[in-house]
Formats: sequence, C-alpha cells, structure tokens
Amino acid sequence: MEYRPLGRTGVRLSALGLGTMMFGDRLDEADSVRMVHAALDAGVNLIDTADVYSGGGSERIVGKALKDRRHEAFLATKVRRAMPGDSRPNAEGLSRLHIMQAAEASLSRLGTDYIDLYQVHWADPDTPIEETLRALDDLVRQGKVRYIGCSNFPAWRLARSLWKSDVHGLARFESNQVNFNLLQREVEEEILPLCTEERVSALAFSPLAGGLLTGKYNDGTAPPGSRGEGNESWRGRLAPSNLTFLRGLAGLGQQAGRAMMDLAVGWLLNVPQVASVLAGPSSLEQWEDYLAAAARPLAPDVARAVEVLQRETGAGLPRHSRYL
Ligand SMILES: NC(=O)c1ccc[n+]([C@@H]2O[C@H](COP(=O)([O-])OP(=O)(O)OC[C@H]3O[C@@H](n4cnc5c(N)ncnc54)[C@H](OP(=O)(O)O)[C@@H]3O)[C@@H](O)[C@H]2O)c1
Repeated sequence: MEYRPLGRTGVRLSALGLGTMMFGDRLDEADSVRMVHAALDAGVNLIDTADVYSGGGSERIVGKALKDRRHEAFLATKVRRAMPGDSRPNAEGLSRLHIMQAAEASLSRLGTDYIDLYQVHWADPDTPIEETLRALDDLVRQGKVRYIGCSNFPAWRLARSLWKSDVHGLARFESNQVNFNLLQREVEEEILPLCTEERVSALAFSPLAGGLLTGKYNDGTAPPGSRGEGNESWRGRLAPSNLTFLRGLAGLGQQAGRAMMDLAVGWLLNVPQVASVLAGPSSLEQWEDYLAAAARPLAPDVARAVEVLQRETGAGLPRHSRYL
C-alpha cells in the first residue's frame, strides 16, 4: 500500500481509503465487519464514515469492526446534517451546540474516545466559521479529535477558513473531501490549486461516479440491483456524450489489459493533491476490485489517452450542488 501525507500533518494516509456509506445499507453488518478487517489487513488505514450514514448504523458497525483494532485505523467521520427523524431546531448545522452534541454521539456510536479526522460534511452559511472552528479546536484540545477536515467546501470558503484558523491560532482544515472523478472535474479549477498552495489534502469521494465508471451502465440502462436501478435522477447521467466516453474508456481498458475502473482509480491516484481515493464498495468482491485497481499505477500513455478521451467527448456530470 502506498501512503501519502495528510495536509501539513505528519500523518500518512493509505492512498486508498474505505468509504462506509453502504454499511448497514446495501452491505449487512457481517460483510461490513469483514470488509474493514480485509482493508486493515491490506494496509488501508483510512476508514471514512459519517454520523448520518444509515442513520448512525455505519458508525456503529465501524465501531464494532474496530473494537480490537482501533489503533490500526485512521478513523474519519462527519458532522453537519440532522439524524433521520430529528427535526429539533439545533439538530443540524455547524453551531458549537450541534457540533459538541454530534461529536459525543459519534464517539458513543463508534465506541472510541477519539476521532482521527473530524470533518464538517458541507458548509453551514448560517453559522460564522469562527464559531465552527473554535468548537472543533476545543474538541482537539480535549483530545476527542486529532485533526479536522472539511468536505464539499468551495475554494473561497476553504481559503477563508484557513485564514481564520491562522489569525486566531485555531486548528486548521487539513483536508477537503470532494466529489472528484473522471466525470466530475470542477475541483481542478480552483480547489486543487488552493490545496497545493496551502498544503491541504483532497480526499476524492465517488471515484467511480457511483458506479458509472465500472462500465456496468455502458448499454445506457441501470443493471438490476445497481444503485441506479429505478432511480429517475440517474437517467441524466447516461447522456450520449457520457456513454460515448464510457464506451471509449472500456475500449482503452481492453487495449491496456486493465479493468475500466482501474483507469478511473488510477487516473485519480495520479493527481498530486489527492491524498486518498475513497472507495464505496457494496460487496466484498467490489472491495477487492478497488484494491486491485489501486495496486497497479496507470502507464503514462494510458493516463494520457484517458485524459484526451474525456476532453474530446465533453463527458461530464452537472456541477456538484453542495459547493455553497
Ligand atoms: N463527503 C461527501 O459528501 C460524500 C458523498 C458521497 C460519498 N462519500 C464518501 O465516499 C465514499 C465513496 O463514494 P461512492 O460510494 O459514491 O463511490 P463510487 O466508487 O463512486 O461508487 C461506488 C459504487 O460503485 C459501484 N461499484 C463499485 N465497484 C464496483 C465493481 N467492481 N463492479 C460494479 N460496480 C461497482 C457500486 O454500486 P452498486 O451498489 O450499484 O453495485 C458501489 O456502491 C463513500 O462510502 C463515502 O465514504 C462522501
């Protein structure tokens, strides 16, 4: 396993991280626990969850899986959204009040007394960033959180947050978890240059665009049992330009003797600002595929051909809506 630095810290993250959004959802508890153990055995240390995944179920399962192996993992979770069914006025957002309550709830579900990376899931324009950063800094000082990160932050908001941390001597965001894959590339415009300048890591989520980049949608329909099946909002993702690209990518994979998803994962791993690519497996077999994809770098000529194909087909998904 390759390891890369997290932001300005001395921590090294596995270049492939295990995303656990499917735990307690498409993946049952037993397989989820097996997957965490398989990941640790393979040298993966970054395990990414969120309080809201499966209504707290993902954190609970991750906690069980790490019971005797907590020290092997770099455990990342998130705060921002209300838990399902909780409509109290302060059940969401990035106020000190909500962050403190949510952190205690996550620690309890995870069965641990510290979170390695506490990430704000997306921005809260109603709460001053100073309030959010002070609350996060307090959690760091209390030893409940090791490092802090953000997610879905546009460049201007991340730059402003870093400035506030600097001015007030508060913990700084070491990472920005962003929607980044061959069909979703707007982070390259401003977020990645800022990451370079400020030494903030990008953690790439949805590396396969939810499964599109595996090739299983290449005939223009969602296969039975897939995330896209019966999901109206997925129809637009299968626009003609995207299908042209996906079919071309399958061809490039064949020529190179690599699976299509190897090209998608390998392309992301070539991006210097990406510290880790967050896999989102729905089965143990899929997890093995991500591991295989990350194990072998892309040959430079294949990487170039992928890049040219994307540009020439004009393939892409609508801009990510969470960059507030
Ligand atoms: N910060 C945020 O706002 C945010 C948002 C989303 C995700 N995330 C994080 O990023 C992680 C990954 O995101 P993601 O789940 O969207 O990742 P992804 O890699 O883009 O999509 C994962 C999906 O692709 C399909 N897939 C994967 N491997 C496959 C294979 N070998 N063959 C066929 N299909 C395959 C599966 O869908 P099927 O179930 O259809 O088989 C799987 O659930 C999440 O677990 C979470 O930790 C963060």
